[in-house]
Amino acid sequence: MQKVGFVGWRGMVGSVLMERMLAENDFAHIAEPVFFSTSNAGGQAPDIGRSGSEKSVAPLGDAFDIDALAELDAIVSCQGGDYTKEVFPRLRERGWQGYWIDAASSLRMQDDAIIVLDPVNRDVIDRGIAAGTKNFIGGNCTVSLMLMALGGLFKAGLVDWVSAMTYQAASGAGAKNMRELISQMGAVRDGVAGELADPASAILEIDRKVAANMRSAEFPTAEFGAPLAGSLLPWIDTQLESGQSREEWKAQVEANKILGTDIAVPVDGTCVRIGAMRCHSQAFTVKLNKNLPLADIEQLIGTANDWVRVVPNEREATLQQLTPTAVTGKLDIPVGRLRKLSMGPEYLNAFTVGDQLLWGAAEPLRRVLLILLG
Ligand code: HSE
Repeated sequence: MQKVGFVGWRGMVGSVLMERMLAENDFAHIAEPVFFSTSNAGGQAPDIGRSGSEKSVAPLGDAFDIDALAELDAIVSCQGGDYTKEVFPRLRERGWQGYWIDAASSLRMQDDAIIVLDPVNRDVIDRGIAAGTKNFIGGNCTVSLMLMALGGLFKAGLVDWVSAMTYQAASGAGAKNMRELISQMGAVRDGVAGELADPASAILEIDRKVAANMRSAEFPTAEFGAPLAGSLLPWIDTQLESGQSREEWKAQVEANKILGTDIAVPVDGTCVRIGAMRCHSQAFTVKLNKNLPLADIEQLIGTANDWVRVVPNEREATLQQLTPTAVTGKLDIPVGRLRKLSMGPEYLNAFTVGDQLLWGAAEPLRRVLLILLG
């Protein structure tokens, strides 16, 4: 593969992808990277440290120029679903045979697409490549992080069903939402700054002022549509007939597609937005199909891939290692709070935290590109 195009590399997921590709020296494997823009064609391409004998990087191409895109061997898009819906069908209609690698959800559930998460489904990816699959799509962040955490149990065929209760970070909703979360935090504090500075002020009076501020029309909620800081939002994405949110629906369909299961394992729960920046957390109830000793469960979970790590079910270790603050910006997938529930020895409790911009978005894309580059 010679020419690889990048679209949407300047946005939040695209920027994390670029950071990771530069950190891992991925561009050394690409003869000719070409960068595209939806708004700045002709502008300067990013500095990817090309020098000497390597072909220098061309100015930015027009991301809507189908002729230019059709010359590429692979396209990596972090531009979003609207772009995919507009450009991808036109490229395929004109007979383009290259690889389409995409962070957006639009193509995920199509039969001719594989959801990529190679530490979990390298077998599915390899079979797809051998069978001529050309579309490789990143999974929903929550689903990918769940499978990075619990993949060992799924692979061992031990899971009857999973209830996943999520605690999802602002970044999953977008860069503007992260900014709004911080603005909300500031607004909460600023509204009672005087009272906070006075140790003698009454806490119930502070609380009343905070609540009134959060409910006021002036409180910044343009992005989330409701206060998140000091609160939470138990609905993510659109509303479906089933009563699920679209985010909740994705858990089962995407997890089973990633795993390539013949009989779907039920996965369901409530997806909740909380005031974390970029780490999604999830509390699982796993119904096992046999009563396995906890030590064996820990062994299966902790050895399933190079990033998952079992955190001892102890207070100190949990508060130090199993929080969004501890995990943010890292590829680590800690799994803790592992214990059998009082419902019975086949009911396992687990909690995980993962950076939704890394394993939840950028990392599976850069890794599948490397796989396709051979
Ligand atoms: N849909 C996810 C969220 C983000 O809103 O947190 C990415 O899959």
